[in-house]
Amino acid sequence: MPPATAPVRQWLGQARQVAVLTGAGMSAESGVPTFRDAQTGLWARFRPEELATEQAFRANPQRVWDWYAMRREMTARVSPNAGHLALAAFGHRHPQRLALITQNVDGLHERAGSEGVIALHGRIAEDRWLDRPRTCCQPDCIEAGRPPRCSVCGNLRRPAVVWFGEMLPSQALQAAEAAALRCDLMLVVGTSGQVYPAAGLAHTVRQAGARVVVLNPEPSGLDEVADVCLRERAAQCLPRLLD
Ligand code: OAD
Repeated sequence: MPPATAPVRQWLGQARQVAVLTGAGMSAESGVPTFRDAQTGLWARFRPEELATEQAFRANPQRVWDWYAMRREMTARVSPNAGHLALAAFGHRHPQRLALITQNVDGLHERAGSEGVIALHGRIAEDRWLDRPRTCCQPDCIEAGRPPRCSVCGNLRRPAVVWFGEMLPSQALQAAEAAALRCDLMLVVGTSGQVYPAAGLAHTVRQAGARVVVLNPEPSGLDEVADVCLRERAAQCLPRLLD
């Protein structure tokens, strides 16, 4: 076992409250591409301003819908990895001690069996109305299409994910902030730490005087607030860390 893992296991054992913040690297070993990794990351191949903003969707709804439909199908085909499963098992053993916060929209934590997952950036498997729903915007009025629309008023369905420039779902953000303030240890797994407010949660933990452990094979924007950086892959390290 690499030397840095032993103290982290000890901290995990001692902590009354543990928060885990996951990012795209958590699902990398399941085969879900990350966003910012050079060459393989989605944002190395696609322009976020053309696909992940409300403006882009309004300008070209079909193009944006199709891109999310492709990602939705891809995430439905992959499976949770050993890291997701280890977190779910830890949560079952310690239901009162773990808050699992994710930036991922892929639903793999839930599919691994984790309960009460705080999904900061929404869920790719779901969609919602683009404009405030009118009385006609009912499930039985949804007309199939790319994107589907309300057959009465034309209101469009959009992926239920957070796009650039949008607020995070307030309940999820509040729950995540409360967990960050409450925890004795935050494990930050597989995120570049470049997107706020999610990354700010690790700063909150640090400022509150609790420990932060970063698990990432590469340097990240949150290394500066970490007590320890574990340079490993999530699916390899988490089972050893949490067993
Ligand atoms: P990024 O793509 O920015 O960062 C992924 C991180 O995972 C990088 O730091 C990699 O080094 C690391 N990584 C890669 N493989 C790993 C592995 N096997 N184990 C552990 N770590 C690994 O993804 P996020 O930080 O999640 O927003 O990006 C944050 C947000 O930006 C996303 O939620 C998304 C994106 O735009 C929305 O969808 C709203």
